[in-house]
Amino acid sequence: MNKNWKAPNIIIGPVADKDSYYNRSDIEEDIFNKLKNGSVLLVAPRRVGKTSVMQYIAKQPTENYKLIFEDIEGIKSADEFFERIYTLLLNCLDKMDKAKKWFINFMKKHSIIKISRDGIAFKTKPDDFLKEVEILLKEINEKQAIENIVLLLDELPEVLFKINKTDNAGAVSILENLRHWRQQPEMNKKVKFVLAGSVGIHYVVEKIKTRTSDLNDLQHVECKPLSNNEAHKYIDWATQNATVIYNSEQKQYLLDKVQYFVPYSINILLNEISIQAQKVNNPKITTQSIDSAFNTVVKNNDHFKDWKERLQNYMPKADFDFVNEILIHTAHKERITVQEIYDKAVKHSKTADYMDFITDLEKDGYITEVDTQYRFMSPFLSAFWKRNNPIYNA
Ligand SMILES: Nc1ncnc2c1ncn2[C@@H]1O[C@H](COP(=O)(O)OP(=O)(O)OP(=O)(O)O)[C@@H](O)[C@H]1O
Ligand SMILES: [Mg+2]
Repeated sequence: MNKNWKAPNIIIGPVADKDSYYNRSDIEEDIFNKLKNGSVLLVAPRRVGKTSVMQYIAKQPTENYKLIFEDIEGIKSADEFFERIYTLLLNCLDKMDKAKKWFINFMKKHSIIKISRDGIAFKTKPDDFLKEVEILLKEINEKQAIENIVLLLDELPEVLFKINKTDNAGAVSILENLRHWRQQPEMNKKVKFVLAGSVGIHYVVEKIKTRTSDLNDLQHVECKPLSNNEAHKYIDWATQNATVIYNSEQKQYLLDKVQYFVPYSINILLNEISIQAQKVNNPKITTQSIDSAFNTVVKNNDHFKDWKERLQNYMPKADFDFVNEILIHTAHKERITVQEIYDKAVKHSKTADYMDFITDLEKDGYITEVDTQYRFMSPFLSAFWKRNNPIYNA
């Protein structure tokens, strides 16, 4: 094997950071612009790159904000959520030189011994962190020396969904208080939120309160796939120091295969092409080698089985069965019409709200509408669904 072989500069699965992060300037700018007016909801289907963008933004030095990113997935109760918010706010305040004096006093007054990223050590721990957060937000609002704070919270829908299973009041309380903090003039001047998560948050909020109004005031930032032009630039960027490089036609051929231009899908294919080329020690690629890598990728379930599991985990069985049948049909027939969807809704007794399921599948990046029919957004996902359900009798 050629020891000098250089793989493309990509990461598959974990958050893209440092050298493996490709700048999504349009999204980054959109977030910063909207933060001037209030809090933001980062909406995007799975694996589009939400966490990567949020983590990148949190590391940007800015004059206007102290930013902090937190993956809140492990939180199991509303109390724990409020305690985490309190901790994050104190972590930010701890870094503000201009408000040092005030902060030392605040710590004394609230019997805080030590602050770290992992938590706060108290002489006596408060028993109501929600109350503490509100007191703190009001102080932050009033105190001139305190800078603006942005809390970037990832995986909020997952947390709400989990808490709601055993404690609906807890999930409602989180949603209502987040809204309260955003809207109360005596609390909302300096602390803003960027909220994101990889399950359709509207779906989760509907489950909790049967309405989505608690998010209506949030400004949406879309984390869009790359345009065709940008996808070309992306491939150039990812392969700039790699052994396998692509000319314009090869890039377009690869992109036509991928169809849905998110770094994740492109990375998977670039990686497989490089691996196969390295095996035969030939960096020159052809349309056949792209085809061959594509076929290998669609046979690899690992990248996509999570998409099915997620539906299984988040939906009651009857809902999952309905949605899964739609996806199996779409995978086998390459598309599904609204009439065919309706026929399945009749069979599954879902005629009252069947299009809501379709909208959620669209929002989460499973399917997309083309000329009043629906097809899979990604051919990889479509191939996975077909392999996972090889038999289908319409
Ligand atoms: N800006 C980027 N530069 C390079 N690769 C990226 C970028 N954004 C996303 N990716 C690719 O997509 C993968 C998933 O990224 P990330 O975890 O940020 O997405 P996500 O939308 O948060 O996913 P999930 O919905 O699972 O939470 C990464 O492992 C990487 O392959
Ligand atoms: Mg994520």
